[in-house]
Amino acid sequence: MTFLRFPEGFRFGLSTSAHQIEGYSTADGGGRSIWDHFAHTEGTTQDGDTADVACDHYHRWREDIGLMEQLGLKNYSFSLAWPRILPQGTGRLNPAGLDFYDRLVDRLLEAGIAPTATLYHWDLPVALQQLGGWLNRSVVDWFADYATIAFARLGDRVQQWVTINEPQVVAMLGHVGGQHAPGLRDLWGGLRVSHHLMLAHAEAVSRYRATGQSGQIGIKLVMGPADPASDQPADIAAAGRADAWGSRLFLDPLLRGSYPDILLERFPEAWSCIHPGDLERILDSLDFLGIDYYFRSVIAEGSGQMGVKHLRGPGPRTAMDWEIWPQGLRDLLLRLARDYPPIPLYVMESGAAFEDTLEGGRVHDRARQEYLASHLAAAHQAIAQGAPLQGYFVWSLMDNFEWAYGYAKRFGLIYVDYPTQQRILKDSALWYREVMQRGGLEFEG
Ligand code: FCB
Repeated sequence: MTFLRFPEGFRFGLSTSAHQIEGYSTADGGGRSIWDHFAHTEGTTQDGDTADVACDHYHRWREDIGLMEQLGLKNYSFSLAWPRILPQGTGRLNPAGLDFYDRLVDRLLEAGIAPTATLYHWDLPVALQQLGGWLNRSVVDWFADYATIAFARLGDRVQQWVTINEPQVVAMLGHVGGQHAPGLRDLWGGLRVSHHLMLAHAEAVSRYRATGQSGQIGIKLVMGPADPASDQPADIAAAGRADAWGSRLFLDPLLRGSYPDILLERFPEAWSCIHPGDLERILDSLDFLGIDYYFRSVIAEGSGQMGVKHLRGPGPRTAMDWEIWPQGLRDLLLRLARDYPPIPLYVMESGAAFEDTLEGGRVHDRARQEYLASHLAAAHQAIAQGAPLQGYFVWSLMDNFEWAYGYAKRFGLIYVDYPTQQRILKDSALWYREVMQRGGLEFEG
């Protein structure tokens, strides 16, 4: 066993999102989001689950911060529900919604926990979807106006902001695959949405910078390496295309000021949404880059729009059937450091769902602990090899509403017994408490 110590000031944390934990989205004058609407549509979520109650964090937030204190947590990443603050997405403000986050931030700070606030984790106000949502370019102003309200109210205390969580998922699962709200299936529409997400991000960042506030602002991208299935040139080329689609579609405009040629060439009709000056606005709109890493892809030449085929890798699997591949995190961090201009990196989500069972009031989730240990070790290696990684946030503080999977998948370090809303620290939570406290972990391997 060796002790892997992280650099001084490295930020260990835990993450959640509003829609997945809060519940009661319309309480005290809040509005409905596209996820409220979507989950109430038949056949969209496992067992017809909805986030109507979720973890009832909207009422239990004090108790939940108490649990964070018990874990010795120093960094907590959460999101604001846009429709709680602006029930119609624009215009009339709901003071009670803004007060909720104001109190949350105050109480976190009292507990010595630094808040990282995400403005958009997929819960677009329904009223804006009715106007076309992310397909309508006006979303850039709607989002920036909402962001400006959040900065004005919370920006004196929130020192780390994230504009948008995983634009890939919003564009691809929400607008191309249809597995997520708003449930659309339109390839070109999805590409237009991806561009609007970039622009909305950039506009919110420029509003933030105009406030003169001293915090950092960035975005969270979900990514993993696209590894070729063999060393055949056709597979290597296919892996390059998969990478352009899954990662460079977002990395390149943010960090290079361009979209990958391969995507411009393959989908020319989609890009009339790019107006003169857009790419200049998007470039350099990051103080840091947040990375959500869950798995890599193994790619061979195939058919379909991108000519790729996803193969099953040899690694073991989580309850999501995602391959466990910690070295993918190291590879990803090193690749970002190598291929892009220098930018501070944060792992903002990393974690796994397993079949947890409650035994005599305990959850012995050894597999989750091993998962996290191996990923932290991979992150540690990347730092040793020069990746500018500043922090690592585990997904998630507690079990919650896992989108289309409803409550069937548990990612938490804290177990939630949904019928009673009782919270139980899993073994992994106790282990992570020690990691955070010692600033590193014992690791063998
Ligand atoms: C990420 C999402 C997060 C959660 C995890 C498992 O893609 O950002 O909300 O669902 O996956």
